[in-house]
Amino acid sequence: MSYHAEYTKSVENPEIFWAEKAADVPWYKQPQQILSKDENGIYRWFADGEMNTAYMALDYHVEQGRGEQLAVIYDSPVTDTRSKLTYREMRDQVALFAGVLKQQGVEKGDRVVIYMPMIPEALIAMYAVARLGAVHSVVFGGFAPHELAVRIEDAEPKVVISASCGIEVKKVIEYKPMLDEAIELSAHKPEACIIFQRPQVQARMIPGQDIDWQAAMEKAQPADCVPVKGTDPLYVLYTSGTTGKPKGVQRDNGGHAVALKYSMKAIYDMNPGEVFWAASDVGWVVGHSYIVYAPLLAGCTTVVYEGKPVRTPDAGAFWRVCADYGVKALFAAPTAFRAIKKEDAEALEFGKYDTSALKTIFMAGERLDPPTYDWTVAKTGKPVVDHWWQTETGWAICGNLMGIEPKPTKPGSSTLPIPGYNIQILDAEGQPLPRGEQGSIAIKLPLPPSCLATVWGDFERFRTGYLAEAPGYYTTGDGGYMDDEGYVFIMGRTDDVINVAGHRLSTGEMEEIVAAHPAVAECAVIGVNDPLKGQAPIGLVLLKDGVETEEEVLEKELVAMVRKEIGPIACFNRAIVVQRLPKTRSGKILRKLLRQIADGKEYTVPSTIDDPASLSEIEEIMNEQGLVTKA
Ligand code: COA
Ligand code: AMP
Repeated sequence: MSYHAEYTKSVENPEIFWAEKAADVPWYKQPQQILSKDENGIYRWFADGEMNTAYMALDYHVEQGRGEQLAVIYDSPVTDTRSKLTYREMRDQVALFAGVLKQQGVEKGDRVVIYMPMIPEALIAMYAVARLGAVHSVVFGGFAPHELAVRIEDAEPKVVISASCGIEVKKVIEYKPMLDEAIELSAHKPEACIIFQRPQVQARMIPGQDIDWQAAMEKAQPADCVPVKGTDPLYVLYTSGTTGKPKGVQRDNGGHAVALKYSMKAIYDMNPGEVFWAASDVGWVVGHSYIVYAPLLAGCTTVVYEGKPVRTPDAGAFWRVCADYGVKALFAAPTAFRAIKKEDAEALEFGKYDTSALKTIFMAGERLDPPTYDWTVAKTGKPVVDHWWQTETGWAICGNLMGIEPKPTKPGSSTLPIPGYNIQILDAEGQPLPRGEQGSIAIKLPLPPSCLATVWGDFERFRTGYLAEAPGYYTTGDGGYMDDEGYVFIMGRTDDVINVAGHRLSTGEMEEIVAAHPAVAECAVIGVNDPLKGQAPIGLVLLKDGVETEEEVLEKELVAMVRKEIGPIACFNRAIVVQRLPKTRSGKILRKLLRQIADGKEYTVPSTIDDPASLSEIEEIMNEQGLVTKA
């Protein structure tokens, strides 16, 4: 099969293409309506199909004779623990925990927030929610109470599931006090919290609210899978937008299962029984799709790794895991490889392990810079595939189809559009641009299965944020170009979203926090290039008239505020006091221009600028502070 034939069919006859792919997953009732429109006029996939995602990923495989095959391998260098769960064990644990949830009144359509570290119980919790036809919303463990509270308030969960702690290298992070604080902050209160007690910390339980996971499991009765429609939501995953309020990306059950199952063979070349490892976290979309769901939908084994690429205990950690479990495909963020390269430039650790089972290394989550690409290829001798995607799509938009027809790669490009995605580069008026010209990357509607159909509880935000810029297209928020051969080059976000160590963050949200400091009159937070984390946020701060403060003290206070509100993962470590910020005559801060300066790019001074001298002044400060670099 050729890439060209597969891709052309997917965009010219999407209904036929996806009907065929849908036949590859075990529905209770096969969909007859392949593509339809909902009450909002949005394209939806498989509206009348009946299914259950947990059934498709677990029970079905047990029925097919995979019961004794490994489903989940847990490897935790931070606790010195390893364990394994077969498909049968996983199904039984999930059914039992679904029984616990059912006892708490969780029903189809109810929301359940999950705030957990990288332990198998996180997967059990997610699948148990799916088994009941309920909707999970997983919150990354690195988020502070305020972020958790915002998500609890928006998702309005009946139950929250958490653990007593997470472990960051050697630091024990107590989750329960953060959960308690979040519930305190949130206007919505869950009816119950189920807490998994880890040996490192015994969480203080609140009588009448908190339920002990282990004790509840001992008394539980297994619960059956509840059938849902293809368009019923499986989960809501919050992601950063341009404002302080995160967007709840709502994912359908049907399209998600079909697209992910297809991707496992087409993109990752995975067959049932093989081991897949996404070194991410269940709190991010990569974790949802490629730690939790896709490997099991495809009958593979997934690895749950509680550790880092370095320091747990060394830069050989990735290669050790690949060797120990015969990992065939490794998927991680470029940051992880930059961290390994920094500590083990000659890749001496790589040579210590037998990684012969490892066929391909996949990277995503942020731009894969050519030096990191070149180093990884040279040192491992493995093909490296850069693929581009976002929380909104749930799977890759561009990549290299390793299971269909691998194409030659080009450093800096995430290769070609994935079947199902009709990618166009548009100008400011929403008109397609010729090959080679840079513009806004858009996807012509309909989006393929798995992509969001709305923002949870806020269709208007979905419409204005994604569909309004160019009618008939979904705007990705990324800019870039396509070369003569159709290869796509992603050049970065066109909005106020940044990527720090593969974590998507909103500078707009950081600005709201920084601006709340009593000494601050105005501020701009922008992403600057960072050699390890890709990007790092910095604050440019204008003080209120008459305020006298030591810059170092102010910086410390601002850093502490962002850590408290968003969490340490924001990596907001620098705030610089400036006398003026470049603005338009109507008072809008020229953030895009600031980003261009930080990236060392050529820029034109807009005619609308209020005070042209402010620009050269800022450029000088940013140069002095070493903040200007070419990506
Ligand atoms: N819970 C609590 N805190 C967390 C956390 C979690 N799950 N994850 C990160 N943090 C904290 C860290 O402890 C650190 O805190 P500190 O400032 O007090 O030291 C801070 O957040 C920044 O963490 P991180 O970005 O992980 O930096 P690091 O210096 O500890 O590690 C890397 C650097 C490159 C090893 C690490 O960023 C990494 O593994 N990156 C890959 C990221 C990834 O897989 N992203 C998924 C996208 S697909
Ligand atoms: P997230 O929603 O957290 O997955 O972040 C999505 C954003 O990360 C995209 O919109 C891009 O800006 C960036 N991104 C993800 N993968 C890539 C990639 N392979 N190359 C460049 N940018 C990427």
